[in-house]
Order: sequence, then C-alpha cells, then structure tokens
Amino acid sequence: MAEQIDSAPVKGVRDFYPDDMRVRNWLFEHWRAVAKQFGYEEYDACVLESESLYVRKAGDEIVGQLYNFADKGDRKVALRPEMTPSLARMVLAKKNSLAFPLRWFSIPQCFRYERMQKGRKREHFQWNMDCIGLDSVAAEVELMSAQVAFLQNVGFQVSAEKCDIAFKVSNRQVLQDYLATLNITGEDFAAVCVIIDKRDKIGDEACAELLAEKNVDGETAGKILDLLNVRGLDDLARVAGEENAGYQSLKALMELAEASGIAHAIQIDCSVVRGLSYYTGTVWELFDESGSVPRAIAGGGRYDRLMETFGGQSVPMVGFGFGDVVIALLLEERGLIPNSDARVDDYIYPMNESGFVIANKIAAKLRTDGQKVLVDYSCRRFKHVIKAAENAGASRMFTLGDQEIEAGIVKVRTIGAERVENDHPISEFT
Ligand code: HAM
Repeated sequence: MAEQIDSAPVKGVRDFYPDDMRVRNWLFEHWRAVAKQFGYEEYDACVLESESLYVRKAGDEIVGQLYNFADKGDRKVALRPEMTPSLARMVLAKKNSLAFPLRWFSIPQCFRYERMQKGRKREHFQWNMDCIGLDSVAAEVELMSAQVAFLQNVGFQVSAEKCDIAFKVSNRQVLQDYLATLNITGEDFAAVCVIIDKRDKIGDEACAELLAEKNVDGETAGKILDLLNVRGLDDLARVAGEENAGYQSLKALMELAEASGIAHAIQIDCSVVRGLSYYTGTVWELFDESGSVPRAIAGGGRYDRLMETFGGQSVPMVGFGFGDVVIALLLEERGLIPNSDARVDDYIYPMNESGFVIANKIAAKLRTDGQKVLVDYSCRRFKHVIKAAENAGASRMFTLGDQEIEAGIVKVRTIGAERVENDHPISEFT
C-alpha cells in the first residue's frame, strides 16, 4: 500500500479558509486605510532573512524563538519573527536617496517558535507603522493616534467617557538614568530590560535572581522593582525627579496627546519595559481593559540606535507592531466582526444545462458593466438556489427556464427586504 502523506499543517501555523480569509482581509483593509489616512506608505520585504539580522546579545526571547536553518548554499537564514530589523536594513541600504522623515507601514507575516497559548501562535500577521527620522515625541503621538483611529473604526470605545483599551506608556530612559548611577549601561542595560519584561510571567523573586546573574544586587533589584510600580506623571516626577529625561519626554508626549484628543487612553505605567533590547526611549503596549486576553494587543517603542548595530549612523526611529491574533479574539468576543459581505451582486440561475449559453452571455455583459456575477451551474431546485444566492449576498437573481429562453426573456428577482420579480428581454443584458 502506498505510504500515507501526513496532511496536517505544520504545528502552530494557520490555514485560512474563505471565512477566515474574509475576516483577515477585512482587518487588513482597516489597517491599510488608517495608515494611508495618516500619510504612511506601504513597503514589504521577503519573509526569509539572514539569521544575523536577529542576533542580539541581550537575551531577547525572540532570538530563541527563531525558525532558522541553513539553506542549500549553507547560508544561515531565518523566517522573520518581526519586521523592524528588515525595515532598518532597507532604510540603511538606501539612506542617501530617501527623503526623511519616512512614514512607512507594512503587514508582514511573522514566525516565532513560541509556546502556544491564547493569543499566541507560531505564525501571525503584524501591522507595523514606523516613523523614521523624527526625534520628537510628536511621532509617538501620531502613531498612537493611528492605533486609536483603527480601534474606533472597528467599533471599540476609546473615548473620555469609556475606554475599552488602555495604552500603557513608559520610557526606558527613566530606568536608564537610574541604572547609569550604578554603572549599568549599554548592553547590560538592554539585558536588564529584557529580564524585567519577564516580571509578570516569572514573578519578583525569579526576576531578582536573573538580575543577580547580571551583577545587580538584591537592594538594587528592589529599587528597580519599586521604580516599575510608578503610575502617572506626578508619581514619576516625585520618584525620578523632574530633570529625568524619561519624565521630560513623557510629559511632552502627554501634552501633545492632549492636543490630539487621545490623552484619555494613555496611562503612564513604568512596569512597561518591552522585551526587545533595541528600544531606547518611549515604550508602549495596548491592553484590553476587560482583561479577557492577558496578552498585549500591540506594542511599540522608540529605537534610535538600531541602525548603529547594522553599521550605519544612528537615525531616530519609532513604531509599533499590532498583531492579528489578539485583536481578532477581542473583536469576536464583542461581536464586532461583520458576518458576511456581499461577494456577489448578481446571481444567474439557468434551470437546465440548455440555459448555460445565455447565462454565460448575460454574465459576461454584467461583469463588463462592473457587476460581481456568479452563475449557478448546479441545476438544483429553486429553493436551494435562492438560499445560495442570499448567502452570497446577491441583490438580484436572474432565472432562465427553457420556456423563458424560448420567449427571449429572463426573470429578474430582487433579493432583500422587498422581493419583486419582473420579466425582462434577454437582449437587455447581452
Ligand atoms: P512585539 O511586542 O514582539 O513587537 O510584537 C508586537 C505584537 O505582535 C504583539 O503585541 C502581538 O500583538 C503580536 N505578536 C507577537 N508575537 C506573536 C505571536 N507569537 N502570536 C500572535 N501575535 C503575536 C515587535 O515585534 C516590534 N518589532 C514592534 C515594533 C515595530 N517596534 C517598533 N516598530
């Protein structure tokens, strides 16, 4: 007997059946529309990248999650786990011919070998918007405003009265200034951030143990954890001091956010550090306030020095990644995903095979006129066909029986609230 082929998809990857694809396209259309509304241009890169792009010393979790392998030419390659390094690489390659600031967006497919859980898969799509070449927090506020616009467009409440989604915002410079006084700088600082990001998952004690491995003593670890408990600008000014660069930056951000009408969505929350070592300034994450999915909906930040690690000069960069998995769960929970779309305008029903020729002629004419047309060649009974036409979202059904064809007419029935059927000469539609 022939050997059976394993027909299951690779663990953790996704098949998109038409119903799933409809939702995915609907989501992507919203993302694209908002990005364009803010004047961002779309770019893309190959999902296959050089592994070296992701090599980081600071212990980023993402590096351990790479889908990497050697290709037939023995090159070390990886499926991208995120878009940011590809973006930096592309900008660096054409740096001299690009007109900064750049406002670019993309919807890349990403792969991470993660432990699968609610909201986390091994394959996901991620809406990215990045602003390159602007060192003002005006860029952060612009990006957050785009996120708010998207959330509102798909039906979330993000208003002063009711805010479904919280933007938790911090700035790594708060911690950086403090750690600099203890001589923890550069790569060591980045590594400390990566450890602290795990705090929610592993708890304070395990966090302190990992910090000890980086030569952070118990007392200092305690102070760091205290700093992470800071909430709100006033508290931050008190703890870090008004001269702290992180505080200054967050204060400026809030002023601009106020002017853009999104301040009500923002919570200054120093527990947000982010798990990627390249961030240098503002960091932010979006959470569902009802808390039914305990994972971040989206995350972003400023990474002004990533380009340097690729051998270029530093360029201010800031952006966010917004995954499709968590948001789809939340949209579904709230019943915000539209049930169906009208994939067809006109539905043509030749009752017998003898009607196929006329049916095709009518279909060809209507499609030329710009209609979306489906011809039902099943020759099923009327009640099945009308149901199928309704399911396809058709607004008209053309019925071609032998008698009608002989008489040179077609029955046109409107589908919807009002059902009206009229005879029309076939010549009207051919
Ligand atoms: P990130 O926080 O690693 O940031 O990912 C951003 C978002 O992608 C997450 O908040 C989540 O929505 C989604 N995501 C990540 N991993 C998974 C997964 N395994 N399954 C489902 N969804 C996932 C970055 O990737 C940065 N590169 C974002 C960025 C762009 N920073 C600046 N520009």
